[in-house]
Amino acid sequence: MAILEVKDLSFSYPDKSILHRISFSIKRGDFLCVVGTNGTGKSTLLKLILNRLRPTEGTIKLFGTDSSQFKDFGKIAYVSQKATAFNKDFPATVEEIASLGLYSRKGLFKRYNNRDREKVLSALERVGLSEFAHKKIGNLSGGQQQRVFIAKALVSSPDIIFLDEPTVGIDIQAVDSICCLLGELNSGGITIVMVTHDISSVIYHSNKVLILSEDGSSELISSKEFTGRSLMDMQHHRHKEV
Ligand SMILES: Nc1ncnc2c1ncn2[C@@H]1O[C@H](COP(=O)(O)OP(=O)(O)OP(=O)(O)O)[C@@H](O)[C@H]1O
Ligand SMILES: [Mg+2]
Repeated sequence: MAILEVKDLSFSYPDKSILHRISFSIKRGDFLCVVGTNGTGKSTLLKLILNRLRPTEGTIKLFGTDSSQFKDFGKIAYVSQKATAFNKDFPATVEEIASLGLYSRKGLFKRYNNRDREKVLSALERVGLSEFAHKKIGNLSGGQQQRVFIAKALVSSPDIIFLDEPTVGIDIQAVDSICCLLGELNSGGITIVMVTHDISSVIYHSNKVLILSEDGSSELISSKEFTGRSLMDMQHHRHKEV
């Protein structure tokens, strides 16, 4: 069964048409990268899937249910673009930030009990930050902060995680290690949808690529094919240079 099915999806902001008749689907266990130049609608597509925006036309199904009816929010997690863009003095610890991920299942204002704490600490362990639980989030590096947000996504034990450019603004080693972490989570059974500009770091962990174009159209290809095309492009450019 398709875990996510997008059919003939079109979307316009009042002054601008963005996505035009997009169709694709992904299965449990897929690792999809969404690529495209700035402004092609990558973040908009995630917001549509997560029902924060309504399609102008077309349908989106999550686990077989129309996204406007979908209620099982514990099954999905979202790491938004610029999740780590907060003040350096933000007064929260790593554990506190990660524990916010519990609320998709629990609802706000429930007490934080020992079982919750175990879930949070085990999520921090999965992202390699056990020792940082009590540190202030602002004192961590950009790559470590991004891992905290991945831990926050993991605490609800989601089936699928959506990430919007989780590797922006961090150095290449940190990018590679986050991509490896996502690859491991995917091997462990979590479906991943990731918007990225760092395609070369993640392509070996992903199996599908959705390319959004400036004319609003899209194309879904395998990661293998994407790599093949990139190599051909490179050769083409080299020929032109000589
Ligand atoms: N709330 C909004 N109202 C009007 N236009 C918007 C709104 N949000 C985004 N846009 C426009 O829609 C287009 C697509 O935006 P979106 O953020 O989805 O692009 P993106 O592919 O994620 O870009 P980036 O790579 O820069 O993150 C852009 O031209 C943007 O300016
Ligand atoms: Mg974006």
